[in-house]
Amino acid sequence: MSHSAISQPTVSSKAKSLTGQAFVPGDKSISHRALIMGALAVGETTITGLLTGEDVLRTATVMQALGAKVEQRTGADGKPTFHVWGRGIGGFSEPADVLDMGNSGTSARLIAGLLSAYPFTSFMTGDASLRRRPMDRVTKPLSQTGAKFVTRAGGRLPMAVTGTPMPMALHYDSPIASAQVKSAVLLAGLHGPGLTTVTEPAASRDHTERMFRHFGVDVRTETASEGGKNGPGRYKVTVLGQPELSGRAINVPADPSSAAFLVVSALLVPGSKLFLPNVGINPLRIGLFDTLQEMGADIVYKNKREEAGEPVADLEVRASRLKGICVPAARAPSMIDEYPILAVAAACADGETRMEGLAELKVKESDRLAAMSQGLQACGVSAVAEGDSLTVCGGGPKGNAPVTIPVNLDHRIAMAFLVLGMVAERPIAVDDASAINTSFPGFADIMNGLGATIEAVNRKDLP
Ligand code: S3P
Repeated sequence: MSHSAISQPTVSSKAKSLTGQAFVPGDKSISHRALIMGALAVGETTITGLLTGEDVLRTATVMQALGAKVEQRTGADGKPTFHVWGRGIGGFSEPADVLDMGNSGTSARLIAGLLSAYPFTSFMTGDASLRRRPMDRVTKPLSQTGAKFVTRAGGRLPMAVTGTPMPMALHYDSPIASAQVKSAVLLAGLHGPGLTTVTEPAASRDHTERMFRHFGVDVRTETASEGGKNGPGRYKVTVLGQPELSGRAINVPADPSSAAFLVVSALLVPGSKLFLPNVGINPLRIGLFDTLQEMGADIVYKNKREEAGEPVADLEVRASRLKGICVPAARAPSMIDEYPILAVAAACADGETRMEGLAELKVKESDRLAAMSQGLQACGVSAVAEGDSLTVCGGGPKGNAPVTIPVNLDHRIAMAFLVLGMVAERPIAVDDASAINTSFPGFADIMNGLGATIEAVNRKDLP
C-alpha cells in the first residue's frame, strides 16, 4: 500500500457549467470499518467499492501489520475488489514496527480501540496534522479496561499503547457526539465478555453499528425521549462482546462527504446538471443535503435502496439559487465534515448564513473554523468566526485579485476553495492539494471531466 506526500500547488478557475455523470469514490468511514471488521472476522471478506484514498490504505496497512491478510484484485467487471482474511476476535499479533496513521484520525482512534484489547505494546504516529489532534478523547475511556497509553503532552501522537491482558465490557458516557470515540469503545468492547454500552449527546454516524449488524453482532440502539436520565435525544448503543465473526461481502457506497463537493459545485455553477450514482444517504450523514434543500437546492434522490445495511440513492442535482439560513447546532453531528463546503455555498447564496455548534471543527485535520473564516475573507467574502459559530454573508466572492489559500494538510479545505474558484471572477489557488488523496483520489480529473478547470501548477506560478 503506497502513500504519497509530494505537495501539489493547484489553481481553480471559473467554470462554464458542470454536466454529466460522475462516480464518486467509496465512503471513507465505511471503508475503514469494512477492513477492520474483515480483519476481525474468520475467513474471507470481499469488499467492492472500497475507497483507495490514503487514509483507508493506512488502515489496510495496519491490519496487515497486526496479522490480517489484505489483497487487491481486479473483479470480472474490471473494478478493484479487496479481499481480507481476518484473525478472529483476539487474534491480532504484536506489530513489528511503528504504526503510521498518516493523516487519518479515524484510523488512529478506531485502531487505538482495537489495540487496547491486546496484551502487547504498539507505537502509533501520524503526519503533522494528526500529531496535533487530541487522542485523549479515546485514551480516557479505553484506560478503564486497564490498557495503558503514553502520549505526548495534550494527549497527542506519537503514542504507545499496551493493551489489557483481560479485555472487558465497558460503559462510557461520551461528552461529545463522535463516531470515532463511540467506535473505539465498541471495538474494544467487542473483545470482552458481556455488554459494552456507549452513550453520546446525540447520535453520530452509525456505520460501526450497521457494520457490526452486517457481521451478525448483537447490537441494540435507543434514543432517550424527553426526561431520559442523561437528557433528551441522548443516544445509547449496546453490543454483546466476543461474537464469532465470519467473513462477509460488502459493497461500499459512494461517500456523501465527497459527493458534497460535486453537489455544491453543480448548485453554484450556472447551467449545471449532475447525476451521481450510488451515493450513501445514511440519515446521520446527510445534514448538508437537508440544509442545502432548505436553502433552495434542487437535489433529488432517485432509486433509493439498501447495500450492506446502508441506505443508498442516485443523486440528481441542478444549479439552483440559494438563500442564507440559520443552521442549528443540532444539525452538526450529521454534517460535521461538510461545513467547509457549506461555507462556500453560503458565500454564494443570497443573504446571510449562520452556522452554530462548530466546536469540533477546531480539532479536525486543521482548525476548520479559522481556515474557512480567514480563507473566505481572503477571497473577498465577509465571514466571521465567533465562539463556536460561523457567519457568512452571501453574494459571491468579491475579491479582484487571485489568491492562494494555505491548506495545512486538510483535504476538505483544499476541495472547498477549489470549488469556490469555479465561481470566482479571479482564479483561487491552494498551496497544496496533495491531501485530497486522503479521501478523494481523482478529484481534479473528475471535476475537469464535468467542465471544471482545476490545474496543478509550479509553486512559483501561484498567485
Ligand atoms: C468519522 C467520524 C467523524 C468525521 C470523520 C470520520 C468516522 O469524526 O469527522 O471524518 O469515520 O468515524 P468525529 O468522530 O471526531 O466526529
